[in-house]
Amino acid sequence: MSKFFDITVDGKSFECNSEKHLLESLHNKSPKAPKGCHNGGCGICKIKVSKGKYESIIMSRKHISQEEENSGVVLACRVFPKSDMEIQFIAKPKKITYTIGD
Ligand code: FES
Repeated sequence: MSKFFDITVDGKSFECNSEKHLLESLHNKSPKAPKGCHNGGCGICKIKVSKGKYESIIMSRKHISQEEENSGVVLACRVFPKSDMEIQFIAKPKKITYTIGD
């Protein structure tokens, strides 16, 4: 059964469903939530959890080291809230350089 928890992102709180991963709940609510793959592949949804309980599913070591995972750095699209939480999005968007013509 779904429960709802308050997830605070940089001081603003949003109600999120415990059955949905955090990015799914936040992507239309918080302007801080990045657009990403929603399946653990791109790493853009990296967050630091400063308070709260959550369950996570497997995350690629390419994006989250064991040390990061142990310290509450996780991917929002791999995490389901189990209490009210406080988080920060911490991934920096990658710069892409385009060269047009020569
Ligand atoms: S949105 Fe791509 S890893 Fe989470």
